[in-house]
Amino acid sequence: MKRQIVIAGNWKMHKTNSEAMQLANQVRIKTMDITKTQIVICPPFTALAPVYEVIGDSRIHLGAQNMFWEKEGAFTGEISAGMIKSTGADYVIIGHSERRQYFGESDETVNKKVKAALENGLKPIVCVGETLEEREANITLKVVSRQIRGAFADLSAEQMKKVIVAYEPVWAIGTGKTATPEQAQQVHQEIRQLLTEMFGSEIGEKMVIQYGGSVKPANAESLLSQPDIDGALVGGACLKADSFSEIIHIAE
Ligand code: G3P
Repeated sequence: MKRQIVIAGNWKMHKTNSEAMQLANQVRIKTMDITKTQIVICPPFTALAPVYEVIGDSRIHLGAQNMFWEKEGAFTGEISAGMIKSTGADYVIIGHSERRQYFGESDETVNKKVKAALENGLKPIVCVGETLEEREANITLKVVSRQIRGAFADLSAEQMKKVIVAYEPVWAIGTGKTATPEQAQQVHQEIRQLLTEMFGSEIGEKMVIQYGGSVKPANAESLLSQPDIDGALVGGACLKADSFSEIIHIAE
């Protein structure tokens, strides 16, 4: 079956507001001819509202890179799903490996965030992936399964229709080392099988599973041509409008 292809750009901690507006505008102009591929850009929190103004009624969607699960309250420095939604964003990245590694994110907090995102009408892009040590110890499947089961605990099949999974092997993030298309395909297939077991075949078949980790124009085609890879979560290469739009055109 044909699934929607989603190319998302995770800007991480890059771009001031004026730089963000400029990049978003360039991406908008360079993707005006796109008609099928879903495009999402995820600038830092500070740039969400200004970037939303720039993308206007183009087909580019806006996403945040993180959120907190509580609605409001004394949580200094945190941002709620409702606040993100109010900027015009409709996606949010949850459980990125950098958040797991540097900010203590766990399967349990990922689960709370996924639920809060869905309650507030945000579509979560949930990241999973193994470290190099875990791959070398042959426990990739075990780790990714634990992350998937944890992230989606107590969710219904109906809720899962709004969710995207991003498989990002930690050793391939920002390193220039990409998983081979075969390595990525194998894990994507296993993730799809697990989602089918957990939520039924409709969800398994329809679920968008993105690959992330050093995706660039030179490797996008071979990755995206794999049967279970439905898009990409792009880091470094999304910071330049040229390379990001090239990846989008390859996907299209
Ligand atoms: O979320 C995207 C990401 O972690 C991949 O980063 O720089 O390897 O494309 P990069």
